[in-house]
Amino acid sequence: MSMKEDLERALEDAKAAFARVKDKIELANEKANWLGKKGPLAAIMANMRNLTAEERKEVGQVSNITKQGISDAYDAKLKELNDKEINARIEQEKIDITMPGYTFKKGTIHPLMQTIEDMEDLFIGQGYEIAEGPEIETDTYCFEKLNLPKGHPARDMQDTFYIDAERLLRSQTSPVQARTMELKEGKPIKIICPGKVYRRDADDATHSHQFMQMEGLVLGKNITMADLKGALLSIARKMFGEEREIRLRPSYFPFTEPSVEVDVSCARCGGKGCPTCKGTGWIEVLGAGMVNNRVLEMSGYDPKEIQGFAFGVGVERVAMLKYGIDDIRNFYTNDIRFLDEFKEER
Ligand code: DAH
Repeated sequence: MSMKEDLERALEDAKAAFARVKDKIELANEKANWLGKKGPLAAIMANMRNLTAEERKEVGQVSNITKQGISDAYDAKLKELNDKEINARIEQEKIDITMPGYTFKKGTIHPLMQTIEDMEDLFIGQGYEIAEGPEIETDTYCFEKLNLPKGHPARDMQDTFYIDAERLLRSQTSPVQARTMELKEGKPIKIICPGKVYRRDADDATHSHQFMQMEGLVLGKNITMADLKGALLSIARKMFGEEREIRLRPSYFPFTEPSVEVDVSCARCGGKGCPTCKGTGWIEVLGAGMVNNRVLEMSGYDPKEIQGFAFGVGVERVAMLKYGIDDIRNFYTNDIRFLDEFKEER
């Protein structure tokens, strides 16, 4: 029957047409050609009502088979195109695991923080605790309670930045002494306090308007100058080498009595004399002393019961001596070339 043959041919032609298709647009067009309103199947359907019931049954069957065949051919082609697309994407996005990886630039701890950490290690090992205080300090704690009343000449050396008459950027870490004493209410104390301090100094190779100090305070029964000397010797040896010696010279600080200036034997020449120690064999490193009775009393301690020592060390000064840095400004300019010199495997 010719209509049946027509349909069989249509199926073959449709398959051939789908086989030639190269992309999804062409495929959509071919689908419309063969299965759409203007396609051969639609034409046969339109003609159905002119057929006898017998013919209709047969033509109906054949056209269903044809329609299914064309649909299958379409689905197969669509799958083929999709697979091709996915494979192309996979090919494109393939990661070459043999390629060398990125090198990550590892940072380094800042030499000042390293210096503080080294000192903290030493003191924590000796039973000290770490105390902190605010950088915006009151005149009371920064000066008054350290025996530097208003108008005291020693205040001149610590001119700082004032926020108002009572508040200022602390010029030393010593106020943490008074704060801790008030907190501990007459009990023994063994603390260090590292932190930032400020002074109204013009910046140059050895001065900075902002720098760091580490304060130490030890209070208890029967604490003597010998204990202070032991503490100072251990810090000198930890920071500058086990062969170092220390020398104490009389000095003056309002908050200690007696007060000393502490020199460390020059690590560069071993004490013989060289340009670093200006030929003396000694380098001045920190200030210290036995806590002044007035300071103890002002913060509620009874000097007859409890005494002790205090010291204050400039962190930059220690780091400069230790690492041979000649300009303090190097610490603050964040030049990677400078900082990289202190890279340590951690
Ligand atoms: N606060 C002093 C300064 O900044 C350093 C200092 C000296 C601290 C003697 C002390 C000390 O605790 O006992 O110059």
